[in-house]
Amino acid sequence: MVDQTSPELVTLERLAADFAGRGRDALLPALWAVQTAYGYIGPEAVRVLSQTLDIPEADIYGVIGFYSMFYDRPAGRTIIRVCTSPSCGLAGADRALHTLCDRLGTVPGGTTPDGQYTVEQTTCLGLCEHAPAALVSRQGAGEQQYAPIDIDAILAGQPGHHNGVIGSMTRVLLRDLPTDRAQTLAEYGEYVALQRALSDLMPEEVIAKIEASGLVGRGGAAFPTGLKWSFTRRAPGTPHYVVCNADESEPGTFKDRVLLEIRPHLLLEGLAICAYAIGAEQAYIFIRGEYPLATERLQQAIAEAEAAGYLGENILGSGFSLHVEVRRGAGAYICGEETALFEAIEGKRGYPRIKPPFPTTHGLFGKPTVINNVETLCKVPGIINRGGRWFRQWGTDLSTGIKLVAVSGHVQRPGVYEIPLGVTLRHVLEALCGGVVGELQAVLMGGAAGTFLRPEEIDVRLTFEDLRAIGSTLGSGAIMVFNDTVDLRDVLRRIGEFFQHESCGKCYPCQLGTQRQKEILDRLATPLPGDRQRLADIGQTMTESSLCGLGQTAAAAVLSAMRQWPELFPA
Ligand code: SF4
Ligand code: FES
Repeated sequence: MVDQTSPELVTLERLAADFAGRGRDALLPALWAVQTAYGYIGPEAVRVLSQTLDIPEADIYGVIGFYSMFYDRPAGRTIIRVCTSPSCGLAGADRALHTLCDRLGTVPGGTTPDGQYTVEQTTCLGLCEHAPAALVSRQGAGEQQYAPIDIDAILAGQPGHHNGVIGSMTRVLLRDLPTDRAQTLAEYGEYVALQRALSDLMPEEVIAKIEASGLVGRGGAAFPTGLKWSFTRRAPGTPHYVVCNADESEPGTFKDRVLLEIRPHLLLEGLAICAYAIGAEQAYIFIRGEYPLATERLQQAIAEAEAAGYLGENILGSGFSLHVEVRRGAGAYICGEETALFEAIEGKRGYPRIKPPFPTTHGLFGKPTVINNVETLCKVPGIINRGGRWFRQWGTDLSTGIKLVAVSGHVQRPGVYEIPLGVTLRHVLEALCGGVVGELQAVLMGGAAGTFLRPEEIDVRLTFEDLRAIGSTLGSGAIMVFNDTVDLRDVLRRIGEFFQHESCGKCYPCQLGTQRQKEILDRLATPLPGDRQRLADIGQTMTESSLCGLGQTAAAAVLSAMRQWPELFPA
Protein backbone atom coordinates (compact mmCIF):
# COMPACT_ATOMS: atom_id res chain seq x y z
CA MET A 1 0.00 0.00 0.00
CA VAL A 2 1.11 3.56 -0.62
CA ASP A 3 1.48 6.28 2.01
CA GLN A 4 -0.83 9.01 0.81
CA THR A 5 0.84 11.66 2.97
CA SER A 6 4.26 11.91 1.37
CA PRO A 7 6.00 12.06 -1.97
CA GLU A 8 3.12 10.25 -3.64
CA LEU A 9 0.87 13.12 -2.62
CA VAL A 10 2.31 14.97 -5.58
CA THR A 11 1.01 12.17 -7.75
CA LEU A 12 -2.32 12.27 -5.97
CA GLU A 13 -2.71 15.96 -6.71
CA ARG A 14 -1.68 15.41 -10.30
CA LEU A 15 -4.24 12.66 -10.54
CA ALA A 16 -6.96 14.86 -9.04
CA ALA A 17 -6.07 17.63 -11.48
CA ASP A 18 -7.61 15.53 -14.25
CA PHE A 19 -10.96 16.20 -12.61
CA ALA A 20 -10.50 19.90 -11.84
CA GLY A 21 -13.34 22.11 -12.98
CA ARG A 22 -15.76 19.23 -13.18
CA GLY A 23 -18.75 18.97 -10.90
CA ARG A 24 -19.84 16.47 -8.36
CA ASP A 25 -20.72 13.98 -11.08
CA ALA A 26 -16.98 13.41 -11.56
CA LEU A 27 -16.75 11.91 -8.07
CA LEU A 28 -17.14 8.24 -9.03
CA PRO A 29 -14.50 8.37 -11.79
CA ALA A 30 -12.17 10.30 -9.46
CA LEU A 31 -12.63 7.75 -6.67
CA TRP A 32 -11.91 4.96 -9.14
CA ALA A 33 -8.70 6.69 -10.23
CA VAL A 34 -7.49 6.91 -6.62
CA GLN A 35 -8.69 3.42 -5.69
CA THR A 36 -6.87 1.89 -8.65
CA ALA A 37 -3.64 3.82 -8.10
CA TYR A 38 -3.33 3.40 -4.32
CA GLY A 39 -5.53 0.41 -3.50
CA TYR A 40 -7.62 2.56 -1.14
CA ILE A 41 -8.92 6.10 -0.73
CA GLY A 42 -7.29 7.53 2.38
CA PRO A 43 -7.77 10.82 4.25
CA GLU A 44 -5.30 12.75 2.08
CA ALA A 45 -7.04 11.60 -1.07
CA VAL A 46 -10.42 12.59 0.35
CA ARG A 47 -9.04 16.01 1.29
CA VAL A 48 -7.62 16.60 -2.18
CA LEU A 49 -10.79 15.40 -3.94
CA SER A 50 -12.91 17.52 -1.62
CA GLN A 51 -10.98 20.63 -2.66
CA THR A 52 -10.84 19.68 -6.33
CA LEU A 53 -14.52 18.86 -6.74
CA ASP A 54 -15.88 21.18 -4.05
CA ILE A 55 -17.64 18.38 -2.20
CA PRO A 56 -17.65 18.16 1.62
CA GLU A 57 -15.30 15.46 2.93
CA ALA A 58 -18.15 13.87 4.88
CA ASP A 59 -20.10 13.40 1.64
CA ILE A 60 -17.12 11.73 0.01
CA TYR A 61 -16.75 9.31 2.93
CA GLY A 62 -20.47 8.60 2.62
CA VAL A 63 -20.06 7.67 -1.03
CA ILE A 64 -16.94 5.56 -0.40
CA GLY A 65 -18.75 3.62 2.31
CA PHE A 66 -21.71 2.92 0.06
CA TYR A 67 -19.78 1.01 -2.62
CA SER A 68 -18.18 -2.32 -1.80
CA MET A 69 -15.31 -1.90 -4.27
CA PHE A 70 -14.05 1.29 -2.60
CA TYR A 71 -11.92 1.14 0.57
CA ASP A 72 -11.23 4.04 2.93
CA ARG A 73 -8.29 2.27 4.57
CA PRO A 74 -5.51 0.06 3.29
CA ALA A 75 -6.49 -3.43 2.18
CA GLY A 76 -4.21 -6.01 0.57
CA ARG A 77 -2.30 -4.91 -2.52
CA THR A 78 -4.24 -7.66 -4.27
CA ILE A 79 -7.90 -8.10 -3.35
CA ILE A 80 -9.40 -11.44 -4.35
CA ARG A 81 -13.20 -11.63 -4.33
CA VAL A 82 -14.73 -15.09 -4.64
CA CYS A 83 -18.38 -15.32 -5.67
CA THR A 84 -20.50 -17.55 -3.45
CA SER A 85 -23.91 -16.84 -5.02
CA PRO A 86 -25.99 -19.89 -6.05
CA SER A 87 -24.43 -20.90 -9.40
CA CYS A 88 -20.91 -20.55 -8.04
CA GLY A 89 -21.99 -22.30 -4.84
CA LEU A 90 -23.06 -25.31 -6.95
CA ALA A 91 -19.71 -25.29 -8.73
CA GLY A 92 -17.56 -25.49 -5.60
CA ALA A 93 -17.01 -21.83 -4.71
CA ASP A 94 -16.91 -22.48 -0.95
CA ARG A 95 -14.18 -25.07 -1.41
CA ALA A 96 -12.18 -22.72 -3.67
CA LEU A 97 -12.55 -19.90 -1.14
CA HIS A 98 -11.23 -22.02 1.71
CA THR A 99 -8.41 -23.52 -0.36
CA LEU A 100 -7.34 -20.03 -1.29
CA CYS A 101 -7.47 -18.84 2.31
CA ASP A 102 -5.52 -21.89 3.51
CA ARG A 103 -2.79 -21.27 0.94
CA LEU A 104 -2.49 -17.64 1.97
CA GLY A 105 -2.86 -18.27 5.68
CA THR A 106 -5.87 -16.02 6.10
CA VAL A 107 -9.65 -16.21 6.42
CA PRO A 108 -12.51 -14.82 4.32
CA GLY A 109 -12.55 -11.10 4.99
CA GLY A 110 -8.94 -11.18 6.18
CA THR A 111 -5.65 -9.73 4.93
CA THR A 112 -2.34 -11.57 4.96
CA PRO A 113 0.18 -10.24 7.54
CA ASP A 114 2.47 -8.93 4.79
CA GLY A 115 -0.41 -6.84 3.39
CA GLN A 116 -0.14 -8.59 0.04
CA TYR A 117 -3.58 -10.20 -0.20
CA THR A 118 -7.12 -9.57 1.03
CA VAL A 119 -9.63 -12.34 0.40
CA GLU A 120 -13.33 -11.58 0.34
CA GLN A 121 -16.54 -13.43 -0.27
CA THR A 122 -18.77 -11.63 -2.76
CA THR A 123 -22.08 -11.96 -4.60
CA CYS A 124 -22.68 -12.76 -8.27
CA LEU A 125 -19.96 -11.47 -10.60
CA GLY A 126 -22.00 -12.03 -13.75
CA LEU A 127 -19.84 -14.95 -14.88
CA CYS A 128 -22.23 -17.70 -13.79
CA GLU A 129 -21.81 -19.80 -16.95
CA HIS A 130 -18.13 -20.24 -16.03
CA ALA A 131 -18.69 -20.76 -12.30
CA PRO A 132 -17.03 -20.61 -9.87
CA ALA A 133 -15.82 -17.07 -10.50
CA ALA A 134 -13.48 -14.57 -8.88
CA LEU A 135 -12.67 -10.90 -9.40
CA VAL A 136 -9.17 -9.74 -8.57
CA SER A 137 -8.13 -6.10 -8.02
CA ARG A 138 -4.41 -5.35 -8.16
CA GLN A 139 -3.11 -2.05 -6.89
CA GLY A 140 -2.01 0.05 -9.81
CA ALA A 141 -3.45 -2.33 -12.39
CA GLY A 142 -7.20 -2.57 -11.81
CA GLU A 143 -9.55 -5.54 -12.02
CA GLN A 144 -9.38 -8.91 -13.72
CA GLN A 145 -11.95 -11.71 -13.93
CA TYR A 146 -11.13 -15.37 -13.38
CA ALA A 147 -13.83 -17.82 -14.41
CA PRO A 148 -13.53 -20.55 -13.54
CA ILE A 149 -11.28 -19.69 -10.60
CA ASP A 150 -7.63 -20.59 -11.16
CA ILE A 151 -5.86 -20.08 -7.84
CA ASP A 152 -2.38 -20.70 -9.29
CA ALA A 153 -2.94 -18.16 -12.05
CA ILE A 154 -4.29 -15.58 -9.58
CA LEU A 155 -1.34 -15.95 -7.22
CA ALA A 156 1.15 -15.96 -10.09
CA GLY A 157 -0.35 -12.71 -11.37
CA GLN A 158 -1.25 -14.30 -14.69
CA PRO A 159 -4.16 -12.77 -16.61
CA GLY A 160 -7.56 -14.35 -16.25
CA HIS A 161 -9.76 -15.09 -19.22
CA HIS A 162 -13.22 -16.31 -20.08
CA ASN A 163 -14.88 -16.82 -23.45
CA GLY A 164 -18.56 -16.46 -24.13
CA VAL A 165 -20.74 -19.55 -24.52
CA ILE A 166 -23.39 -18.37 -26.92
CA GLY A 167 -26.06 -20.02 -28.98
CA SER A 168 -28.88 -18.73 -31.13
CA MET A 169 -32.14 -19.98 -32.59
CA THR A 170 -32.80 -16.74 -34.43
CA ARG A 171 -29.32 -15.46 -35.28
CA VAL A 172 -30.24 -11.78 -34.86
CA LEU A 173 -28.05 -10.45 -32.05
CA LEU A 174 -25.77 -13.45 -31.75
CA ARG A 175 -24.67 -14.47 -35.18
CA ASP A 176 -21.25 -15.32 -36.66
CA LEU A 177 -19.50 -13.85 -33.70
CA PRO A 178 -16.10 -14.30 -32.13
CA THR A 179 -16.38 -15.54 -28.55
CA ASP A 180 -12.94 -14.44 -27.39
CA ARG A 181 -12.90 -10.78 -28.45
CA ALA A 182 -15.15 -7.92 -29.49
CA GLN A 183 -16.36 -7.46 -33.04
CA THR A 184 -14.33 -4.70 -34.65
CA LEU A 185 -16.04 -1.83 -36.40
CA ALA A 186 -14.95 -3.30 -39.74
CA GLU A 187 -16.66 -6.57 -38.86
CA TYR A 188 -19.75 -4.88 -37.48
CA GLY A 189 -20.36 -2.60 -40.44
CA GLU A 190 -21.28 0.98 -41.15
CA TYR A 191 -23.98 1.80 -38.59
CA VAL A 192 -26.50 1.47 -41.42
CA ALA A 193 -29.53 1.84 -39.17
CA LEU A 194 -28.20 5.06 -37.69
CA GLN A 195 -27.46 6.42 -41.16
CA ARG A 196 -30.99 5.52 -42.24
CA ALA A 197 -32.54 7.15 -39.18
CA LEU A 198 -30.54 10.35 -39.65
CA SER A 199 -31.12 10.67 -43.37
CA ASP A 200 -34.64 9.26 -43.89
CA LEU A 201 -36.59 9.45 -40.64
CA MET A 202 -37.83 12.19 -38.38
CA PRO A 203 -37.34 11.40 -34.67
CA GLU A 204 -41.09 10.73 -34.35
CA GLU A 205 -40.87 8.19 -37.17
CA VAL A 206 -38.04 6.38 -35.37
CA ILE A 207 -40.22 6.17 -32.26
CA ALA A 208 -43.18 4.97 -34.34
CA LYS A 209 -41.07 2.10 -35.67
CA ILE A 210 -40.06 1.06 -32.17
CA GLU A 211 -43.69 1.26 -31.03
CA ALA A 212 -44.79 -0.84 -34.01
CA SER A 213 -42.33 -3.57 -33.04
CA GLY A 214 -43.94 -4.04 -29.63
CA LEU A 215 -40.47 -4.03 -28.05
CA VAL A 216 -40.57 -3.93 -24.25
CA GLY A 217 -37.61 -3.42 -21.94
CA ARG A 218 -35.34 -6.44 -21.57
CA GLY A 219 -34.02 -5.54 -18.12
CA GLY A 220 -36.91 -7.12 -16.23
CA ALA A 221 -39.62 -4.46 -15.97
CA ALA A 222 -40.90 -5.02 -19.56
CA PHE A 223 -42.08 -1.42 -20.04
CA PRO A 224 -42.91 -0.55 -23.69
CA THR A 225 -39.75 1.01 -25.13
CA GLY A 226 -41.44 3.21 -27.76
CA LEU A 227 -43.80 4.67 -25.16
CA LYS A 228 -40.88 5.52 -22.88
CA TRP A 229 -39.12 7.26 -25.75
CA SER A 230 -42.20 9.25 -26.80
CA PHE A 231 -42.87 10.42 -23.20
CA THR A 232 -39.28 11.62 -22.95
CA ARG A 233 -39.20 13.29 -26.35
CA ARG A 234 -42.30 15.29 -25.47
CA ALA A 235 -41.20 16.15 -21.92
CA PRO A 236 -40.46 19.85 -21.34
CA GLY A 237 -37.01 20.90 -20.21
CA THR A 238 -33.54 20.57 -21.64
CA PRO A 239 -31.21 18.88 -22.04
CA HIS A 240 -32.54 15.38 -22.52
CA TYR A 241 -30.34 12.40 -21.67
CA VAL A 242 -30.01 8.76 -22.65
CA VAL A 243 -28.66 6.37 -20.06
CA CYS A 244 -27.79 2.76 -20.77
CA ASN A 245 -28.21 0.55 -17.74
CA ALA A 246 -25.31 -1.90 -18.00
CA ASP A 247 -25.34 -2.63 -14.29
CA GLU A 248 -26.84 -6.11 -14.46
CA SER A 249 -26.09 -7.54 -11.03
CA GLU A 250 -28.92 -9.96 -10.41
CA PRO A 251 -27.44 -13.32 -9.42
CA GLY A 252 -27.74 -15.57 -12.46
CA THR A 253 -27.81 -12.70 -14.99
CA PHE A 254 -24.95 -12.31 -17.45
CA LYS A 255 -26.46 -11.79 -20.91
CA ASP A 256 -25.61 -8.07 -21.07
CA ARG A 257 -21.99 -8.84 -20.22
CA VAL A 258 -21.78 -11.05 -23.32
CA LEU A 259 -23.31 -8.33 -25.54
CA LEU A 260 -20.94 -5.72 -24.12
CA GLU A 261 -17.90 -7.94 -24.54
CA ILE A 262 -18.72 -9.17 -28.03
CA ARG A 263 -21.06 -6.67 -29.75
CA PRO A 264 -20.28 -3.21 -28.31
CA HIS A 265 -20.96 -1.47 -31.63
CA LEU A 266 -24.49 -2.85 -31.73
CA LEU A 267 -25.15 -1.21 -28.37
CA LEU A 268 -23.58 2.08 -29.44
CA GLU A 269 -25.64 2.20 -32.62
CA GLY A 270 -28.85 1.54 -30.65
CA LEU A 271 -27.85 4.21 -28.13
CA ALA A 272 -27.22 6.78 -30.87
CA ILE A 273 -30.58 6.07 -32.55
CA CYS A 274 -32.34 6.45 -29.19
CA ALA A 275 -30.57 9.77 -28.56
CA TYR A 276 -31.60 11.06 -31.97
CA ALA A 277 -35.20 10.00 -31.35
CA ILE A 278 -35.57 11.69 -27.97
CA GLY A 279 -33.43 14.76 -28.70
CA ALA A 280 -30.42 13.98 -26.48
CA GLU A 281 -26.82 14.95 -27.17
CA GLN A 282 -25.28 13.31 -24.12
CA ALA A 283 -25.44 9.65 -23.21
CA TYR A 284 -24.04 7.66 -20.31
CA ILE A 285 -23.38 3.96 -20.12
CA PHE A 286 -23.35 2.90 -16.48
CA ILE A 287 -21.55 -0.42 -16.30
CA ARG A 288 -20.99 -2.51 -13.22
CA GLY A 289 -17.53 -2.27 -11.70
CA GLU A 290 -17.21 -6.05 -11.81
CA TYR A 291 -17.07 -5.98 -15.65
CA PRO A 292 -13.55 -4.72 -16.44
CA LEU A 293 -13.24 -6.56 -19.76
CA ALA A 294 -16.59 -5.29 -21.02
CA THR A 295 -15.64 -1.75 -19.92
CA GLU A 296 -12.34 -1.87 -21.78
CA ARG A 297 -13.90 -3.21 -24.97
CA LEU A 298 -16.72 -0.68 -24.81
CA GLN A 299 -14.26 2.18 -24.49
CA GLN A 300 -12.29 0.88 -27.45
CA ALA A 301 -15.50 0.65 -29.48
CA ILE A 302 -16.46 4.23 -28.56
CA ALA A 303 -13.05 5.44 -29.74
CA GLU A 304 -13.47 3.51 -33.00
CA ALA A 305 -16.97 4.90 -33.55
CA GLU A 306 -15.85 8.46 -32.82
CA ALA A 307 -12.95 8.14 -35.23
CA ALA A 308 -15.33 6.89 -37.92
CA GLY A 309 -17.78 9.76 -37.33
CA TYR A 310 -20.62 7.63 -35.89
CA LEU A 311 -20.37 9.35 -32.51
CA GLY A 312 -19.24 12.86 -31.55
CA GLU A 313 -19.96 16.20 -33.21
CA ASN A 314 -22.15 16.51 -36.28
CA ILE A 315 -22.49 12.79 -36.90
CA LEU A 316 -22.18 11.95 -40.61
CA GLY A 317 -22.80 15.62 -41.43
CA SER A 318 -26.37 15.41 -40.11
CA GLY A 319 -26.10 18.19 -37.56
CA PHE A 320 -26.87 15.66 -34.81
CA SER A 321 -24.18 15.25 -32.15
CA LEU A 322 -23.83 12.67 -29.41
CA HIS A 323 -21.19 12.33 -26.71
CA VAL A 324 -21.02 9.04 -24.87
CA GLU A 325 -19.44 8.63 -21.47
CA VAL A 326 -18.83 5.33 -19.70
CA ARG A 327 -19.35 5.34 -15.94
CA ARG A 328 -18.14 2.46 -13.80
CA GLY A 329 -20.21 1.35 -10.86
CA ALA A 330 -18.32 0.21 -7.79
CA GLY A 331 -20.15 -2.77 -6.39
CA ALA A 332 -23.72 -1.93 -5.40
CA TYR A 333 -26.57 -4.04 -6.78
CA ILE A 334 -29.08 -1.32 -5.99
CA CYS A 335 -27.52 0.89 -8.68
CA GLY A 336 -29.30 -1.29 -11.25
CA GLU A 337 -32.48 0.45 -10.04
CA GLU A 338 -32.90 3.31 -12.48
CA THR A 339 -33.14 6.22 -10.06
CA ALA A 340 -30.34 4.85 -7.86
CA LEU A 341 -28.25 4.67 -11.01
CA PHE A 342 -28.91 8.38 -11.68
CA GLU A 343 -27.79 9.20 -8.16
CA ALA A 344 -24.59 7.20 -8.72
CA ILE A 345 -23.80 9.05 -11.95
CA GLU A 346 -24.46 12.32 -10.12
CA GLY A 347 -21.75 11.39 -7.62
CA LYS A 348 -23.96 10.44 -4.69
CA ARG A 349 -24.81 7.31 -2.77
CA GLY A 350 -26.96 5.07 -4.93
CA TYR A 351 -30.23 5.51 -3.05
CA PRO A 352 -33.44 5.00 -5.06
CA ARG A 353 -35.69 8.03 -5.42
CA ILE A 354 -39.38 8.05 -4.66
CA LYS A 355 -41.46 7.76 -7.85
CA PRO A 356 -43.31 9.64 -9.29
CA PRO A 357 -41.92 11.77 -10.80
CA PHE A 358 -40.58 9.29 -13.34
CA PRO A 359 -37.33 9.47 -15.30
CA THR A 360 -39.13 10.41 -18.50
CA THR A 361 -39.67 13.87 -16.99
CA HIS A 362 -37.27 13.98 -14.00
CA GLY A 363 -34.35 11.66 -14.60
CA LEU A 364 -30.62 12.25 -14.65
CA PHE A 365 -29.79 15.70 -13.19
CA GLY A 366 -33.58 16.16 -12.89
CA LYS A 367 -33.97 16.26 -16.68
CA PRO A 368 -36.06 14.12 -19.07
CA THR A 369 -34.19 10.85 -19.49
CA VAL A 370 -34.58 7.55 -21.27
CA ILE A 371 -32.95 4.72 -19.40
CA ASN A 372 -32.77 1.42 -21.25
CA ASN A 373 -31.06 -1.86 -20.63
CA VAL A 374 -28.19 -3.06 -22.87
CA GLU A 375 -30.22 -5.78 -24.57
CA THR A 376 -33.12 -3.42 -25.23
CA LEU A 377 -30.88 -0.94 -27.05
CA CYS A 378 -29.25 -3.77 -28.98
CA LYS A 379 -32.66 -4.60 -30.48
CA VAL A 380 -33.05 -1.10 -31.93
CA PRO A 381 -30.80 -1.18 -35.05
CA GLY A 382 -32.51 -4.32 -36.37
CA ILE A 383 -35.96 -2.78 -35.93
CA ILE A 384 -34.94 0.43 -37.70
CA ASN A 385 -33.42 -1.52 -40.57
CA ARG A 386 -36.13 -4.09 -41.04
CA GLY A 387 -39.24 -2.71 -39.36
CA GLY A 388 -41.62 -3.58 -36.59
CA ARG A 389 -43.32 -6.37 -38.54
CA TRP A 390 -40.00 -8.13 -38.99
CA PHE A 391 -39.50 -8.07 -35.22
CA ARG A 392 -43.02 -9.35 -34.63
CA GLN A 393 -42.42 -12.46 -36.74
CA TRP A 394 -41.17 -13.95 -33.48
CA GLY A 395 -43.01 -14.22 -30.21
CA THR A 396 -46.66 -13.59 -29.37
CA ASP A 397 -48.88 -10.52 -29.52
CA LEU A 398 -47.98 -9.61 -25.95
CA SER A 399 -44.34 -10.77 -26.00
CA THR A 400 -42.92 -9.82 -29.34
CA GLY A 401 -39.56 -10.66 -30.82
CA ILE A 402 -36.48 -12.32 -29.51
CA LYS A 403 -34.89 -12.50 -26.09
CA LEU A 404 -31.58 -13.49 -24.62
CA VAL A 405 -31.66 -15.95 -21.77
CA ALA A 406 -28.72 -16.67 -19.46
CA VAL A 407 -28.69 -20.27 -18.33
CA SER A 408 -26.49 -21.45 -15.48
CA GLY A 409 -26.29 -24.32 -13.02
CA HIS A 410 -26.87 -27.98 -13.80
CA VAL A 411 -27.12 -28.04 -17.60
CA GLN A 412 -24.60 -29.50 -20.04
CA ARG A 413 -23.90 -26.17 -21.78
CA PRO A 414 -24.49 -23.14 -19.55
CA GLY A 415 -24.40 -19.90 -21.56
CA VAL A 416 -26.33 -17.14 -23.28
CA TYR A 417 -28.95 -18.20 -25.81
CA GLU A 418 -31.06 -16.13 -28.15
CA ILE A 419 -34.61 -17.44 -28.42
CA PRO A 420 -37.84 -16.41 -30.08
CA LEU A 421 -40.23 -15.64 -27.22
CA GLY A 422 -42.76 -18.45 -26.97
CA VAL A 423 -40.44 -21.47 -27.05
CA THR A 424 -40.74 -23.70 -24.03
CA LEU A 425 -38.37 -23.82 -21.12
CA ARG A 426 -37.94 -27.51 -21.89
CA HIS A 427 -36.68 -26.64 -25.36
CA VAL A 428 -34.09 -24.26 -23.93
CA LEU A 429 -32.88 -26.78 -21.36
CA GLU A 430 -32.85 -29.82 -23.61
CA ALA A 431 -32.24 -28.65 -27.17
CA LEU A 432 -30.07 -25.58 -26.58
CA CYS A 433 -28.29 -26.39 -23.34
CA GLY A 434 -27.82 -30.10 -24.06
CA GLY A 435 -30.02 -31.29 -21.21
CA VAL A 436 -29.96 -31.24 -17.43
CA VAL A 437 -27.01 -32.77 -15.62
CA GLY A 438 -28.61 -35.40 -13.39
CA GLU A 439 -32.25 -35.36 -12.32
CA LEU A 440 -33.99 -31.97 -12.48
CA GLN A 441 -35.22 -30.71 -9.12
CA ALA A 442 -35.98 -27.00 -9.66
CA VAL A 443 -35.52 -24.04 -11.98
CA LEU A 444 -35.18 -20.51 -10.63
CA MET A 445 -36.63 -18.12 -13.22
CA GLY A 446 -35.61 -14.45 -13.25
CA GLY A 447 -32.63 -14.68 -10.89
CA ALA A 448 -32.51 -14.22 -7.14
CA ALA A 449 -35.57 -11.97 -7.29
CA GLY A 450 -37.45 -14.55 -9.32
CA THR A 451 -39.51 -17.64 -8.59
CA PHE A 452 -38.94 -21.39 -8.59
CA LEU A 453 -40.54 -23.83 -11.01
CA ARG A 454 -40.91 -27.57 -10.47
CA PRO A 455 -39.84 -30.14 -13.12
CA GLU A 456 -43.44 -30.68 -14.22
CA GLU A 457 -43.72 -26.98 -15.12
CA ILE A 458 -40.93 -26.76 -17.70
CA ASP A 459 -43.30 -27.05 -20.64
CA VAL A 460 -44.29 -23.44 -19.94
CA ARG A 461 -43.76 -21.13 -22.90
CA LEU A 462 -41.21 -18.41 -22.27
CA THR A 463 -43.38 -15.34 -22.66
CA PHE A 464 -44.20 -12.61 -20.16
CA GLU A 465 -47.87 -13.64 -20.08
CA ASP A 466 -47.39 -17.42 -19.83
CA LEU A 467 -44.98 -17.12 -16.95
CA ARG A 468 -47.16 -14.57 -15.20
CA ALA A 469 -50.12 -16.96 -15.51
CA ILE A 470 -48.30 -19.58 -13.42
CA GLY A 471 -47.06 -17.04 -10.87
CA SER A 472 -43.56 -16.86 -12.30
CA THR A 473 -41.49 -14.30 -14.19
CA LEU A 474 -39.14 -14.05 -17.13
CA GLY A 475 -37.38 -11.13 -15.46
CA SER A 476 -34.21 -10.26 -17.32
CA GLY A 477 -33.89 -13.81 -18.67
CA ALA A 478 -31.89 -15.54 -15.92
CA ILE A 479 -32.54 -19.28 -15.69
CA MET A 480 -30.79 -21.19 -12.89
CA VAL A 481 -31.07 -24.97 -12.94
CA PHE A 482 -30.74 -27.24 -9.90
CA ASN A 483 -30.58 -31.02 -9.96
CA ASP A 484 -31.67 -33.31 -7.16
CA THR A 485 -28.27 -33.29 -5.44
CA VAL A 486 -28.84 -29.67 -4.40
CA ASP A 487 -30.12 -28.70 -0.97
CA LEU A 488 -32.57 -25.94 -1.88
CA ARG A 489 -32.32 -24.60 1.65
CA ASP A 490 -28.69 -23.81 0.90
CA VAL A 491 -29.73 -21.98 -2.28
CA LEU A 492 -32.27 -19.96 -0.29
CA ARG A 493 -29.65 -19.17 2.33
CA ARG A 494 -27.38 -17.72 -0.36
CA ILE A 495 -30.27 -15.69 -1.79
CA GLY A 496 -31.13 -14.37 1.67
CA GLU A 497 -27.50 -13.41 2.20
CA PHE A 498 -27.47 -11.55 -1.11
CA PHE A 499 -30.48 -9.38 -0.34
CA GLN A 500 -29.38 -8.66 3.20
CA HIS A 501 -26.03 -7.51 1.84
CA GLU A 502 -27.47 -5.43 -0.98
CA SER A 503 -30.34 -3.66 0.78
CA CYS A 504 -29.40 0.03 0.71
CA GLY A 505 -31.10 0.67 4.06
CA LYS A 506 -33.18 3.64 2.95
CA CYS A 507 -36.53 2.13 3.98
CA TYR A 508 -37.27 -0.05 7.01
CA PRO A 509 -39.34 -2.89 5.51
CA CYS A 510 -36.41 -3.89 3.34
CA GLN A 511 -33.57 -2.92 5.67
CA LEU A 512 -34.98 -4.90 8.59
CA GLY A 513 -36.86 -7.49 6.55
CA THR A 514 -33.83 -8.68 4.60
CA GLN A 515 -31.89 -9.08 7.87
CA ARG A 516 -34.64 -11.05 9.62
CA GLN A 517 -35.24 -13.11 6.47
CA LYS A 518 -31.57 -14.05 6.30
CA GLU A 519 -31.50 -15.06 9.97
CA ILE A 520 -34.43 -17.44 9.48
CA LEU A 521 -33.00 -18.84 6.23
CA ASP A 522 -29.68 -19.47 8.01
CA ARG A 523 -31.44 -21.73 10.50
CA LEU A 524 -33.87 -23.46 8.12
CA ALA A 525 -32.45 -26.89 8.98
CA THR A 526 -33.04 -26.29 12.71
CA PRO A 527 -35.89 -23.76 12.80
CA LEU A 528 -37.44 -22.09 15.82
CA PRO A 529 -41.16 -22.59 16.42
CA GLY A 530 -43.11 -20.10 14.32
CA ASP A 531 -40.36 -19.53 11.75
CA ARG A 532 -42.53 -20.49 8.79
CA GLN A 533 -45.15 -17.89 9.69
CA ARG A 534 -42.46 -15.34 10.45
CA LEU A 535 -40.86 -15.88 7.05
CA ALA A 536 -44.22 -15.51 5.30
CA ASP A 537 -45.05 -12.32 7.24
CA ILE A 538 -41.67 -10.76 6.53
CA GLY A 539 -41.96 -11.65 2.86
CA GLN A 540 -45.41 -10.15 2.55
CA THR A 541 -44.38 -6.97 4.38
CA MET A 542 -41.32 -6.44 2.21
CA THR A 543 -43.27 -7.14 -0.97
CA GLU A 544 -46.07 -4.73 -0.16
CA SER A 545 -44.33 -1.86 1.58
CA SER A 546 -40.74 -1.56 0.37
CA LEU A 547 -39.80 1.58 -1.47
CA CYS A 548 -38.17 0.04 -4.54
CA GLY A 549 -38.01 -3.13 -6.58
CA LEU A 550 -35.18 -4.63 -4.54
CA GLY A 551 -37.23 -4.88 -1.37
CA GLN A 552 -40.41 -5.65 -3.27
CA THR A 553 -38.80 -8.77 -4.77
CA ALA A 554 -36.37 -9.75 -2.00
CA ALA A 555 -38.75 -12.44 -0.77
CA ALA A 556 -40.03 -13.63 -4.15
CA ALA A 557 -37.84 -16.73 -4.37
CA VAL A 558 -38.44 -17.64 -0.72
CA LEU A 559 -42.22 -17.24 -0.98
CA SER A 560 -42.30 -19.31 -4.17
CA ALA A 561 -40.20 -22.06 -2.54
CA MET A 562 -42.67 -22.06 0.38
CA ARG A 563 -45.49 -22.68 -2.08
CA GLN A 564 -43.62 -25.31 -4.11
CA TRP A 565 -41.90 -27.25 -1.30
CA PRO A 566 -43.74 -26.58 1.99
CA GLU A 567 -41.91 -29.55 3.53
CA LEU A 568 -38.69 -27.47 3.52
CA PHE A 569 -40.25 -25.07 6.03
CA PRO A 570 -41.29 -26.81 9.24
CA ALA A 571 -43.82 -24.83 11.27
S1 SF4 B 1 -36.48 -1.36 -0.81
FE1 SF4 B 1 -34.42 -1.83 0.02
S2 SF4 B 1 -33.03 -1.25 -1.61
FE2 SF4 B 1 -35.01 -0.25 -2.04
S3 SF4 B 1 -34.90 1.76 -1.04
FE3 SF4 B 1 -35.77 0.38 0.47
S4 SF4 B 1 -33.96 -0.33 1.65
FE4 SF4 B 1 -33.19 0.53 -0.26
S1 FES C 1 -20.80 -15.38 -10.99
FE1 FES C 1 -21.17 -16.55 -9.22
S2 FES C 1 -23.33 -16.87 -9.23
FE2 FES C 1 -22.99 -15.54 -10.91
